[in-house]
Amino acid sequence: MSTLTKLALGVMGQLRPRPVKGNAETTIKLPAPDKRGGMPLMAALARRRSSREFARKPLPRALLSSLLWAAFGVNRRDGGRTAPSAIDAQEIDVYVALPTGAYLYDARTHSLQLVAASDLRRVTGYQDFVDEAPLDLVYVADHRRMRMVPVGQRESYASAAAGAISQNVYLFAASNGLATVIRAWIDRSAIADALGLAHDQQVLLAQTVGYPKPKQTP
Ligand SMILES: Cc1cc2nc3c(=O)[nH]c(=O)nc-3n(C[C@H](O)[C@H](O)[C@H](O)COP(=O)(O)O)c2cc1C
Repeated sequence: MSTLTKLALGVMGQLRPRPVKGNAETTIKLPAPDKRGGMPLMAALARRRSSREFARKPLPRALLSSLLWAAFGVNRRDGGRTAPSAIDAQEIDVYVALPTGAYLYDARTHSLQLVAASDLRRVTGYQDFVDEAPLDLVYVADHRRMRMVPVGQRESYASAAAGAISQNVYLFAASNGLATVIRAWIDRSAIADALGLAHDQQVLLAQTVGYPKPKQTP
C-alpha cells in the first residue's frame, strides 16, 4: 500500500491489519539463540546503516530467535537484559509483527505470545516497505513499570531504552547481512488499537528487519 493511501486511511482511522496467511500459533517457543560468533563488534559498527529496501523472503525461526535475544533478551541469571533501562524497570515490550500474526516477545521464556491473529505489518508505519518486509518490531513503553521514575522523565527514559534495543538490532543486522531501519513516522493510535494496548502503554518506535532486496540488473 502506498504511503499516500496509508496517510489518507490513517486520517480516517481506517489503517487496518490484513488477515494472516495460514494459522496464527498461540505460542511460539523459540529455539535457543545462538550466542556465539557473529562479526567482531568493530566490523559490525563499520557496517551499521539504515536500509529501506527489503526482500519478501521470510526470516528463519533460528535467526528470529537470535535477533530477539540480541534485541532485548535475558543475558544474566538475575534476569538482566541485553539493553539497559533506568532503575532496571525493563519497561519496553517488543511486539513482533509477522505475516502469521502479531506477538509479544516474552524474554523470560524466550517465546512469542500471540496478541492479534492478523497481519498488522502494514499498520506499523506509513512507509510502503513495512507491508512486505518479513518483520516489523514495535517498541512499547509500559508506564506501569515506571512508577519509581518521576512522571516527567518517563517518556525520555523509555525512549532511551528503546533506542538501545534498536541499536542492538542494528548491530545484529549488520553482523548477519540483514537490512533494518528504526522508524518514528508511525500512526501510534492505529498501532495501539491493532495491538489492543491499554492507555498506559505507549507506542514509541517501530523497526523493520529483513533481507536486503537484491539489486536489479539492468
Ligand atoms: C528516532 C529516529 C526516528 C527515525 N525515524 C525514521 C522513520 O520514520 N523512517 C525512516 O525511514 N527512517 C527513520 N530513521 C532513520 C534515520 O533516517 C537514519 O538513521 C538517518 O538517516 C541516518 O542514516 P543511518 O542510520 O544509515 O546512519 C529514524 C532514526 C531515528 C534515530
